Amino acid sequence: MEVRSKVRDYAVHWADDAEFVGRLDATPNRLTVVDANVWKHHGQGVLAGVDRATLKVFPVSEERKTLDGVCELYDLLMQRAAKKNVTLVCYGGGILQDVAGFAASTLYRGVSWIFAPTTLLAQADSCIGGKTSLNYQSFKNLLGTFYPPTAVYIHTPFLATQSETDYFSGIGEVIKLHILGGPEKTDQLAQMLPALTRRDPAALTAAVGNSLAVKLAYIMEDEFDRGRRNLLNYGHCFGHALETVSRFEIPHGQAVTSGMILANLVAVHRGRLARPTFDSLWQRLLLPGLRVVPRREQLAPAPMIAAMGNDKKRTGAGLALVLPNEPLSLEKIDDLAPAEVERALAAFAELCEEKSALFKTP
Ligand SMILES: NC(=O)c1ccc[n+]([C@@H]2O[C@H](COP(=O)([O-])OP(=O)(O)OC[C@H]3O[C@@H](n4cnc5c(N)ncnc54)[C@H](O)[C@@H]3O)[C@@H](O)[C@H]2O)c1
Ligand SMILES: [Zn+2]
Repeated sequence: MEVRSKVRDYAVHWADDAEFVGRLDATPNRLTVVDANVWKHHGQGVLAGVDRATLKVFPVSEERKTLDGVCELYDLLMQRAAKKNVTLVCYGGGILQDVAGFAASTLYRGVSWIFAPTTLLAQADSCIGGKTSLNYQSFKNLLGTFYPPTAVYIHTPFLATQSETDYFSGIGEVIKLHILGGPEKTDQLAQMLPALTRRDPAALTAAVGNSLAVKLAYIMEDEFDRGRRNLLNYGHCFGHALETVSRFEIPHGQAVTSGMILANLVAVHRGRLARPTFDSLWQRLLLPGLRVVPRREQLAPAPMIAAMGNDKKRTGAGLALVLPNEPLSLEKIDDLAPAEVERALAAFAELCEEKSALFKTP
């Protein structure tokens, strides 16, 4: 897959076996940075051949997705003899992608970087699009640049060792991209979701491939997030607020899953989405995809409305939301009323209770 970008065009390669690691390790003037958990699980496996002399094992956390984390990489990169010609080779999830991408985009006004994503979220979604984001003070993803990698290598066997919660965070973005892809992609995902939750290799390849193809269509039209790309924010308006209110206890893609359900409820209440369409999405995708169910206190209206009002993507006076319309097309609105938020949260709290009752062991 070729991605065209105003910064640089780049290719996404499918790396079925371990051979790609040797290829990346032959990159001249490289610094290889590996997420510490990825190293723990794969350092003796697919990454065993990585040259230790140019390796940095990097512990990740949201607290290290900051300028301090970036400075650590600057220091290591500046120690290399080659300056502008250095290449950062990076194995990790969205956090390492953000730190490495930001460092690569700013050091010497931009050096090469190659990304091998190791989480479902990073493989299916964040590895293309070129965004890099850092947390600043208490604000998530406040600083950032547009700077795509020089190349992306997707090796799905990395995903076997992800924790269930992190894996399901990725499933949330996969569901979002299939819904954005239209009814055919949505049906296809509904059929393969049981296999995908078992991390079946064929289902993974299909789900990652479909997700990237849908995202590619959106970003090619609007690389810098001015119009159509906004629709990729489906589930994120409520989702970001839930992340904030839960103090990041709910992982990103799971907050997005809740966010899609809430946006769908608003659409039903506005008469934009038919109830059978809502029910079909809930039963076939969103109910099985929701693993981190928000607690009732996390759905209290006042903090949610306050957090939605602070969303950095907001441009007008009202609250913004990406809303599904019948038959499943998306639209951005900016006149969402607090009373609508309250009603959707109450309806969602009921659904969450039903879901919890469904899964309670007798
Ligand atoms: N730049 C973008 O376009 C973009 C888009 C979406 C999200 N993000 C950011 O990505 C981050 C979330 O990323 P994520 O969900 O990919 O996970 P992550 O990078 O937060 O990693 C989650 C956990 O999984 C571990 N891990 C990573 N790969 C593993 C593997 N193969 N086996 C075992 N453990 C592994 C990590 O060490 C970490 O503990 C957030 O900070 C979010 O803001 C960025
Ligand atoms: Zn997201």
